[in-house]
Amino acid sequence: MDHFVYKHGALHAEDVPVAEIAAAVGTPFYCYSAQTLTRHFTLFREALSPLPHLVCFAIKSLSNVAVLKLLGDLGAGMDVVSIGEYLRAKAAGVPGDRIVFSGVGKTRDEMRMALEGGIRQFNVESEPELIALSEVAAAMGLRAPITLRVNPDVDAKTHAKIATGKKENKFGIPISRASAVYAEAARLPGIEVVGIDVHIGSQLTDLAPFEQAFAKVADLTRQLRAEGHDIRRLDLGGGLGIPYTQSNETPPLPSDYGAMIKRTVGDLGCEIEIEPGRLISGNAGILVSSVIYVKSGEERDFLILDAAMNDLVRPAMYDAHHDIVPVVEPPVGVEQQRYDVVGPICETGDTFAKGRDLAPMQPGDLVAFRSAGAYGAVMASEYNSRPLVPEVLVRGDHHAVIRPRPSYIDLVKRDVIPDWL
Ligand code: LLP
Repeated sequence: MDHFVYKHGALHAEDVPVAEIAAAVGTPFYCYSAQTLTRHFTLFREALSPLPHLVCFAIKSLSNVAVLKLLGDLGAGMDVVSIGEYLRAKAAGVPGDRIVFSGVGKTRDEMRMALEGGIRQFNVESEPELIALSEVAAAMGLRAPITLRVNPDVDAKTHAKIATGKKENKFGIPISRASAVYAEAARLPGIEVVGIDVHIGSQLTDLAPFEQAFAKVADLTRQLRAEGHDIRRLDLGGGLGIPYTQSNETPPLPSDYGAMIKRTVGDLGCEIEIEPGRLISGNAGILVSSVIYVKSGEERDFLILDAAMNDLVRPAMYDAHHDIVPVVEPPVGVEQQRYDVVGPICETGDTFAKGRDLAPMQPGDLVAFRSAGAYGAVMASEYNSRPLVPEVLVRGDHHAVIRPRPSYIDLVKRDVIPDWL
């Protein structure tokens, strides 16, 4: 459920007509609904109660500091994968003891900065990383709280580019080696073991792979405890999928996911951490764009938009589907027209959708890409020297630009011509 619905024939973001925002900020732009973000976060919290838990929002899915502040003020923790994300969480007022640091290639500088600023735990992904972290922490007179991310060798049954829990993936420590690496961690002077971490992939639409992985983590918890480790936290990662179409998709709900967590690891007395990104932010955002031209080809008609693959790369990168809806509600029963929906970038991959049926469109008409809140703005680039699109946050009848559109002057003046040229 989200808060982008037609009212009186016009698409609204909560109580604000999307066309009104478009008139004020121009297109394309991302628009987020505060109420949807709040609701999705709250669903996870309710799903895990009464277990002791922390819902850590995966910043990589949507990193605007205003959004982080909104979630942080609700009590969310944050899952970061770079010091840049860490600094965003801090700028949003999230305390270090609610920030977990994930990622397969943390540098020593990143470790140092996180230890200085305060951190709940590092989710360590390899032995070399463990040794580096111990050295960095010990040199600062500290012991870094860690979990080891284990790779449970489970097929997440999702897109190959976002599956992370099979042994051929670069992530984590093979679960078969966990016992040995935990023993090593316990010997290192700069390390304090606090738990276990697992994350098997993103956009999972079936609970079975999660359940398989968490059952393995439960067994490992018992084994490691028997070996003398203080396993008091389980970080179960993110990955719960969302519906990308409004028709027939029914991925499991956070409440189903929570019940499965309780069933598999609920009796261990551990504090549970989860790192959802997409389920909180995905359906809380849209990308709004204008039609530049309608071009009739020999075999098909092209809808050429002012948004492109640099603004929303998911269709080009993962063949991802995003529903595209007109901002003016089409009359009931209007005869649909079939379009290839494309952007202006000079490559064929700049295609959002092929053969999409939409109400007939004219130049200047506005459309919205739904489910674009996660992995939308954060994956945007300036390819073709197109400035990053602005972001707008709506709550009730308020809206505010939370990242302005850079000017073309900003874009050009960043480059430096050497004085010897
Ligand atoms: N935790 C870790 C360690 C992760 O690697 C990820 C996502 C998450 C949590 C959050 O997963 P979520 O709940 O959002 O599924 N760009 C791709 C998705 C990449 C996901 C990477 N890791 C896309 O647009 O589909």
